[in-house]
Amino acid sequence: MDIAIAPSILSADFGRLEDDIRAAERGSPDYFHCDIMDGHFVPNISFGPMVVRKMRELTDVPLDVHLMITDPDRYIPAFVEAGASLIYPHIEAPHDVYRTVQLVNDLGVRAGITLNPGTPVEWVVPLLDQVESVLLMSVCPGFGGQEFIPGTIARVRRLRALLDEHRPEVGIAVDGGVSEANATDLVRAGADFLIAGSAVFRAPDIAEAVRRLRAAAERGKENK
Ligand code: DX5
Ligand code: ZN
Repeated sequence: MDIAIAPSILSADFGRLEDDIRAAERGSPDYFHCDIMDGHFVPNISFGPMVVRKMRELTDVPLDVHLMITDPDRYIPAFVEAGASLIYPHIEAPHDVYRTVQLVNDLGVRAGITLNPGTPVEWVVPLLDQVESVLLMSVCPGFGGQEFIPGTIARVRRLRALLDEHRPEVGIAVDGGVSEANATDLVRAGADFLIAGSAVFRAPDIAEAVRRLRAAAERGKENK
């Protein structure tokens, strides 16, 4: 599977969002990651469909939308309408998550499913026919700039084995504290979709940070 790199715009400078997006584009990212927080599912509020729509106007890079919200079913149509290419609800949302991912698929958008660091990876098995990717959080969701939880590497390995057994074509995404320092190990363990906020947008050279992250990830593929 090809490696996908997705800079998370949560760490971008919203006063000069377009400049930051242009800079990141020069590093050839595969997606821009949009973190949606409702102040209820997580203890922070970020932005909604309006900003996703603006992103859609600003760039041709596909948008993956991470829904850290209590009521995903209510807002999914708005994010589809705003131009999301891939939508990642949380498995812990107090909803029938099978129905949630089905709703994403029914609206013609690709679906993933997200797991918090304390959620058993086995929970994804009943959803595997509905998703193309499983997103493992490597921090507690809610804020950018947190430290990577090292146990995530073992979780990626366990999830990869589980996917190989049930549906090998499903990908593994990792989000939170991802950087050059852990990208190689993550890919070696089986990840193929790396999301990074501060490692990209807080770097002195944003385009170079995207390229370096990809290079570190590709090294994990070479010596697997
Ligand atoms: C955290 C968000 C992440 C965040 C990652 O709740 O889901 O996408 O933006 O930021 P870094 O890479 O700085 O941990
Ligand atoms: Zn995220």
